[in-house]
Amino acid sequence: MKKKTLLMFFVLQTFLLAQNFKFVAMSDSRGKNNGVNDSVLTEIVNHIITTQPDAKFIVFAGDLVTGTEHEPEVTYRQLLHWKEVMAPIYNNPNMIWPKVWPIMGNHESRNRKDEANFKKAFPNVYSNGPDDEKGISYSFDFNNTHFTFVNTDRWYYGDPNDTTDDRRDWHYIKHIDWLEKDLKAAKGRGIKHIFVVSHEMIYPTGGHLHDGLANLGRKFKGVVDSTRAWYLDRRQKVIDILKKYNVDAHICGHEHTYARQKVNGVFEIIAGSAGAHLYYPNPTYRADADSHYVWEEMSYTAAIPYYKTLNYFYGPGENSQASRNFVTKRAFNYSVFDVHEDTVFVETYGAFPKKEDSTEMGTKIQLIDKFIIKKD
Ligand SMILES: [Fe+2]
Repeated sequence: MKKKTLLMFFVLQTFLLAQNFKFVAMSDSRGKNNGVNDSVLTEIVNHIITTQPDAKFIVFAGDLVTGTEHEPEVTYRQLLHWKEVMAPIYNNPNMIWPKVWPIMGNHESRNRKDEANFKKAFPNVYSNGPDDEKGISYSFDFNNTHFTFVNTDRWYYGDPNDTTDDRRDWHYIKHIDWLEKDLKAAKGRGIKHIFVVSHEMIYPTGGHLHDGLANLGRKFKGVVDSTRAWYLDRRQKVIDILKKYNVDAHICGHEHTYARQKVNGVFEIIAGSAGAHLYYPNPTYRADADSHYVWEEMSYTAAIPYYKTLNYFYGPGENSQASRNFVTKRAFNYSVFDVHEDTVFVETYGAFPKKEDSTEMGTKIQLIDKFIIKKD
């Protein structure tokens, strides 16, 4: 009897261990070498290969390449070049098919032919998304974990035969119903962990305070007109759905930085530069705050209407973010998720830049953050 109990314990433990796995998240590798920051992406890829031998696959949250507005064939060639730089991953026998799960970013959606080309470049994803986003938005289970990749940046075709009715259609999730149905079905299957991956973040932390899913626009002075209300309403629906289905984390990019925080019960992790030029976090209150901003970042005074509308903590002593448990590192980075039965251990590795506005690494890649996602 004692022997039988021991054996059952051993079998159960083996089963639980078999459910454990690791995956890597990264994003935003665009740069000047044929649309890619070759040197930074190569360093990151080599670091993953040498230090994460048991990672099963990569999720890549968009802006792989710079893309072009008028030459879709150039964007396509950039994507093929990106795959060449990622060759050590694709050739890694320790990872499982298809090794890389990508989602489009705004830089892969700058022309009406871009979506078709993205699907051509990455044909090995599932086609179980909404009708007009098949092969773009998709989802799957791996062990006890569900992954939903939902697009935030698409093309508006209008009349498909009218080339003047043709524009980018960015910064929102079109198929919120599909997202909810997908998460509900995952829960129904008894799935333990859920990760939602999209390019744009819910809670902008710095370089893109003016867009992300809130999409308040540049030079926002605090007036929420009907267009802004539409984006904010859709964003709120996404927040509510992620909370309702107890999602472990929303993994995204778009801002070129590493940031993580828990808001409304759900982690948002910006795994946002595998090469794209690094941003600073939102400016905080200080006497000379307005003198310190570069790139896409805005001054503290200009940021206040955004903070107010997005309910951020701002003012003296606050961090100008959506939560007070906010952690950020201005570093090229990738995150490793070690998924266990009730807990996910997350470690982020990164290299700090050579110069303030640099696209070059100035340090070795090192551990820059670790935290735990504990399921309730
Ligand atoms: Fe982006």
